[in-house]
Amino acid sequence: MQKSKLWIGTSWKMNKTLAEAREYADTVAAAVEDDAGLTRSVEAFVIPSHTAIATVAERLGRWANTVGGFRVGAQNAHWQDSGAWTGEVSMPQIKDAGATMVEIGHSERRTHFHETVETTRFKVESALRHGLVPLLCIGEPAETRDRGHTCSYILAQARGALAGLQRQELAQVLIAYEPRWAIGALGRPARGEELAGPFAALRSEYGGVVAGLLYGGSVTLDNMPDLLALEDVDGLFVGRAAWHAEDFVELLRAGS
Ligand code: G3P
Repeated sequence: MQKSKLWIGTSWKMNKTLAEAREYADTVAAAVEDDAGLTRSVEAFVIPSHTAIATVAERLGRWANTVGGFRVGAQNAHWQDSGAWTGEVSMPQIKDAGATMVEIGHSERRTHFHETVETTRFKVESALRHGLVPLLCIGEPAETRDRGHTCSYILAQARGALAGLQRQELAQVLIAYEPRWAIGALGRPARGEELAGPFAALRSEYGGVVAGLLYGGSVTLDNMPDLLALEDVDGLFVGRAAWHAEDFVELLRAGS
């Protein structure tokens, strides 16, 4: 299905040295130079580790913030602008490094670093205050899915993180629905029939309100057409399948 605006992006999670980041970004930049149509109808984004944001932004930044251009993001940032928060990185700092978006509430952060609905709200507010696009990740654990409580669970995550925002602020936000059981090497991609309910719930509350509703969790070049065929899905948030630059280019090509 042809979408008016299709988001395709990747988070590298805790991977890649600076040399690897450079090579990846150079490969993607060369592919775009070779084929200007590559990102014509795609809003592409790359989310490296903090250490590589500046490197990637330097290489892909010339297409940043343009329609069909690349955004570079951060995987997390603190909600305070500065201060005694050892080991943390702030929104102004990631912006200074070249980020224009920030991932908030990824399930790995909720699971391993005790990210809560409250901290996701603080972070969304801080991102918006600094002109960064918040990429809010939501998703339920397998037990919640098995009890049939997926929609209420993910709506509570989204409502909690986005509480009190004005309409023009919500219009900047991306929501990525990433069922926890679908992410990573131990996960399996969600099937169309498992996504219909959650996306309908998200669409009824946030359709036309936020900038886009994305799916993430074991996305590959092979399952991409089926996922994009779902009417309510505005884009894909890819992990492992986009960690090689050539594969990311193929995913972009398939979306264009
Ligand atoms: O951030 C995207 C991610 O959580 C999905 O990872 O490896 O299952 O595609 P993966």
